[in-house]
Amino acid sequence: MSEVDASPRGDVTKSDELVEMERNIRRLQEQAKDLNQARHALEGEVRSLRKKATRLEDEIAHLKSPPMIIGTLQDMLGPRTAIVKSSNGTVFQVAVNERLSADKLRPGARVAMNQDSLAIIELLHDAWDPMVSGAEMIEAPDISYSDVAGLEEEITLVKEAVELPLKNPGLFSKVGVTPPKGVLLVGPPGCGKTLLAKAVANSTEATFIRMVGSELAQKYIGEGGRLVRELFALAKEKSPSIIFLDEIDAIGAKRLDGSTSGDREVQRTLMQLLAELDGFDQLDDVKIIAATNRPDILDDALLRPGRFDRVIEIGLPKDEGRKAILDLHLSSMTTRRVDVGAIVGSTKGFSGAELAATCVEAGMIAIRDKRTQVRQSDLKEAVAKIAEKRAHAGNRNDPTRLYA
Ligand SMILES: Nc1ncnc2c1ncn2[C@@H]1O[C@H](COP(=O)(O)OP(=O)(O)OP(=O)(O)O)[C@@H](O)[C@H]1O
Ligand SMILES: [Mg+2]
Repeated sequence: MSEVDASPRGDVTKSDELVEMERNIRRLQEQAKDLNQARHALEGEVRSLRKKATRLEDEIAHLKSPPMIIGTLQDMLGPRTAIVKSSNGTVFQVAVNERLSADKLRPGARVAMNQDSLAIIELLHDAWDPMVSGAEMIEAPDISYSDVAGLEEEITLVKEAVELPLKNPGLFSKVGVTPPKGVLLVGPPGCGKTLLAKAVANSTEATFIRMVGSELAQKYIGEGGRLVRELFALAKEKSPSIIFLDEIDAIGAKRLDGSTSGDREVQRTLMQLLAELDGFDQLDDVKIIAATNRPDILDDALLRPGRFDRVIEIGLPKDEGRKAILDLHLSSMTTRRVDVGAIVGSTKGFSGAELAATCVEAGMIAIRDKRTQVRQSDLKEAVAKIAEKRAHAGNRNDPTRLYA
């Protein structure tokens, strides 16, 4: 300062220097502001990277974690002790993770358990899991009543027993009769049971759920009972609805002693089915159609009143029926002067499926002969071919025999 004061032009210099200093200060302030901003930005970035790191660490931990066992909660012994049944059927007493709220741990809940300690780690929400997709929900199959030939009476019976109570429940209570819970369609293979049920699905406004017994028995060992339970729950949720249990003999066969564990599993499925059948009211808006070509092996329990109390027989088609089926299948083919009436007699004992096959065979014969029209002679030849095939098949264990 003293030097500045000594200068002759001190004032001027001072103010110049002041201006310069002020400018510097401003510049430094700007810089400080910029740096501050940069610091904030970097801090933000660090924060988000830390989060990302934690997330990735979590994921690594998650991927490293051992697989969990799925089971069903059977009972709570105390707030932190439970009885569970693992999916292979063994029952354990296990600990329960503290995080899980006790009120959600109800018997029947599905849980995930640690593989070593079997402690319950997680509660699985009972959203419909893909298992139920073993059942198809049929929105509108492309089979209609016009695709079913010669079964007019049977169609009426099914509609009366299944559709009418859903559409007009008041009618039944007024008259004072209880509508059946379900109908059982029985008859030899290939005579239109599945076809008829699909046609019902097409014409009804009710939700139509189809489950094939053989798939249920094969695919989901250990899961059959639960699947049946969920099937009915789904039907109730989507009611009015019709459950179609096709090939019910696969799960509904007679319970025998000394069977294998696979059989026992199938029997558990059957027990669950019986329980479900008993568990809902005749007047509930869920109806069941079941179908089988082996009524002889069905467990009697299924046929008791209050279960499948109405049996509708879809037998081998008689003359008229066979003519109607042949006519129907030929109607979509190009034919030339065929007289179905003349060959109907020679198709005695043919099932609907065999009659359909006869028509396809006749078409193949025409094609092999480089023609575009099916003639009477093709039909005759086709009938002979199918009859020959039947004769071969007859030697095997053919359930059709039961209806002969
Ligand atoms: N009444 C019928 N009218 C027209 N076609 C029929 C009839 N019955 C059977 N068919 C033909 O045979 C095929 C098989 O019939 P469907 O699947 O309904 O037999 P099913 O009675 O369910 O036999 P399964 O006991 O073996 O299950 C049908 O797709 C159809 O082409
Ligand atoms: Mg069928």
